[in-house]
Amino acid sequence: MAIRNIIQVGDPTLRKKSFEVTDFGEKTHQLLDDMKDTLIKANGAGLAAVQVGVLRRMFIVMVEEGYFEFVNPEIVSTSGKQNGQEGCLSVQNKFGDVERPDKVVIKAQDRFGKPFKLTATGFFARAICHENDHLDGILYIDKATNIEVVN
Ligand code: NI
Repeated sequence: MAIRNIIQVGDPTLRKKSFEVTDFGEKTHQLLDDMKDTLIKANGAGLAAVQVGVLRRMFIVMVEEGYFEFVNPEIVSTSGKQNGQEGCLSVQNKFGDVERPDKVVIKAQDRFGKPFKLTATGFFARAICHENDHLDGILYIDKATNIEVVN
């Protein structure tokens, strides 16, 4: 396990589209373990592989409901709306308001390639939408209003 460097806005990698994960072996498991350590150290709610410089479609989320790994995720349906403040470990010292669905149904694979589907609401749904956007090179600052700079 290791802490990986989180790349920051301005790095062109963050704007690239991530590729499908085809390796469900040791290398992917190591990456997910490192991402988890990195997320805990940074005290964040979610982290996508691209944020540690790996253009693969996977992200992790750590919320009240628990710790989740999503590999090759696909949001299959959304409903409702919520407004709330977001930040991003790749956009330091900023927060902004983003409208997101209140509920999402997502299907994905686990680290072994096993498919699963789950329904998330509230902040959990927000975190999933934010991380899923990273896989397509989208940052919350592209969607946010009232961006606040803190020091
Ligand atoms: Ni982010």
